[in-house]
Amino acid sequence: MNDQAVKKPLPHAGVLKIQPYTQGASEVPGIQDPIKLSSNESSFGPSPQALEAYAAAAGMLHRYPDGAQTALRNAIAETYALQASNIVCGNGSDELIQLVTRAFVSAGDEVLMSENCFLMCRIHALAQDATVVVAPEQDDLVDVDALLARVTDKTRLLTLANPNNPTGTYIDGDAIRRLHAALPNHVILLLDGAYAEYVTADDYDAGADYVLNSDNVVMTRTFSKIYGLSSLRIGWAYMPDAILDAVQRIRTPFNANGPAMDTATAAVADTVYIEKIRDNNAYWLQEIRQRLTALGLYVIPSVTNFYLIRFPDKCGTTALRAAKYLEGAGIIPRPVGGEDDAELRITVGSDDENAAVLSAFEGLMKQQVSKTG
Ligand SMILES: Cc1ncc(COP(=O)(O)O)c(C=O)c1O
Repeated sequence: MNDQAVKKPLPHAGVLKIQPYTQGASEVPGIQDPIKLSSNESSFGPSPQALEAYAAAAGMLHRYPDGAQTALRNAIAETYALQASNIVCGNGSDELIQLVTRAFVSAGDEVLMSENCFLMCRIHALAQDATVVVAPEQDDLVDVDALLARVTDKTRLLTLANPNNPTGTYIDGDAIRRLHAALPNHVILLLDGAYAEYVTADDYDAGADYVLNSDNVVMTRTFSKIYGLSSLRIGWAYMPDAILDAVQRIRTPFNANGPAMDTATAAVADTVYIEKIRDNNAYWLQEIRQRLTALGLYVIPSVTNFYLIRFPDKCGTTALRAAKYLEGAGIIPRPVGGEDDAELRITVGSDDENAAVLSAFEGLMKQQVSKTG
């Protein structure tokens, strides 16, 4: 056999370091229509106006969409008071993070991120053969100093989910200002605001004002969460001219599809619908935390549509046992962390879904008390 015969196509080295992304579970064997709280989706679905726009889009399926994304960019600009010419839409915010990474990160560069962050940022960096540099967190919060201490001449991109996932915590506007001020200008600060619409805290800053006032800040946002359009795959990013120019060079012309853009255009205009969901979510975040804390569990204070539960030794159960119990009650949570230090991330759902979660935890903890008592 000659050499040629044994050679096979090989991906580049970084690709082989990637652990493929696993999505949140959606089925429980033996249970019909379980309550899926594993992927931080909105149980309320999209605005009725968005659904109408989606139905209307069926009439245009034979046409290519508007590659310039004009209607959706204008609608986003109107709702968020931004400059439409600096907005670009994509197949989920995930694609926009990928485009920025592909355009600015080369083999051997460093991409900096916090210990907890959106897993895809890591995957996109490794796909470039870049080195992923991880900064530890303090008390479940992104640590600005730990990030800054890891910036080098090779750092090209710092991706920061704010609020963060899976902790659900955020760092305030002062912390973002401090991070940006100390970051060298050659490093892009990518502020991933997938959960920004849920935040009610006054001191939160999603970072839009930095985009046009500096050269190196990108903000990414999504229609997958509060807008209830996960399945359509539509997100957007706000970026300065020079970064936008690079992204436009590599963006495929029709990366955002027509029905997704039409639906999102209607969704983003229905601000009343979004406010109602935000208020309801804020109420349940408080209620759930209070009730689970009373049961002896630790719930990280979240500003998003999910919460991470920790199971202290003395609580008598573990995340994995709780996950099994919840699944038995027809509820799908998302275990995160390893076998030994697992935690449960659960999406805030509809009123009935949240009540079902609380009642399941009450049942589980009662069982624990009768076992140990
Ligand atoms: C922190 C964070 N960023 C980005 C995304 C990607 O969202 P999408 O690609 O659906 O817009 C998610 C999805 O779960 C997320 O949790």
